[in-house]
Amino acid sequence: MNDSEKVLLVYSSKTGNTRKVAEGIAQGLGEVARIIPIEDVPDEGAPVMLLGFWVDKGTADAKSLAYIRKLEGRKVGLFGTLGAYADSEHARETAETMKALVSEKNTCLGCFLCQGKIDLALTEQFKQLPPGHPHAMDEERMKRHLEAAKHPDQADIEAALAACKAMLEAARA
Ligand SMILES: Cc1cc2nc3c(=O)[nH]c(=O)nc-3n(C[C@H](O)[C@H](O)[C@H](O)COP(=O)(O)O)c2cc1C
Repeated sequence: MNDSEKVLLVYSSKTGNTRKVAEGIAQGLGEVARIIPIEDVPDEGAPVMLLGFWVDKGTADAKSLAYIRKLEGRKVGLFGTLGAYADSEHARETAETMKALVSEKNTCLGCFLCQGKIDLALTEQFKQLPPGHPHAMDEERMKRHLEAAKHPDQADIEAALAACKAMLEAARA
């Protein structure tokens, strides 16, 4: 199989969570996929793509957003990591936002999200906020940060791989 026939798996990752998931997916897909960090991606892309992003303020990170704006007429499956729980309203809304964005000029095959550990610097910033601030650290938020610190784990990677396989199956239909 030559490179042009392969699924292009592009990922953006600041602290390594999304890279870990992307590498797990690429390993599971084997030779049908070509994995490339977003910084090195060729402009032309591929007909079928998987794009991994990290969640920044309820949407994808800036590099992923800029890349998505360049895509047209592709079949794109999304996966990403975020600090919030994967089954939270925030995760659901973020997935919907991203699917709608990709669908403007492409066919979106789906969006898988899992938790990823939150940068310690961000946790420290939250701790400095005064009580009552919408992002102030409280017991519930601290619990979420501690849970996020365990992710992505092997189960997340397996779930991401299964979700991407289903998306690629849909692309063939
Ligand atoms: C600047 C910044 C903004 C973030 N915004 C959100 C957010 O809006 N919602 C969320 O659930 N997580 C948010 N996070 C957490 C990251 O999405 C999460 O830690 C992700 O796994 C990081 O992925 P990476 O390691 O691939 O860079 C934010 C993290 C940073 C550093």
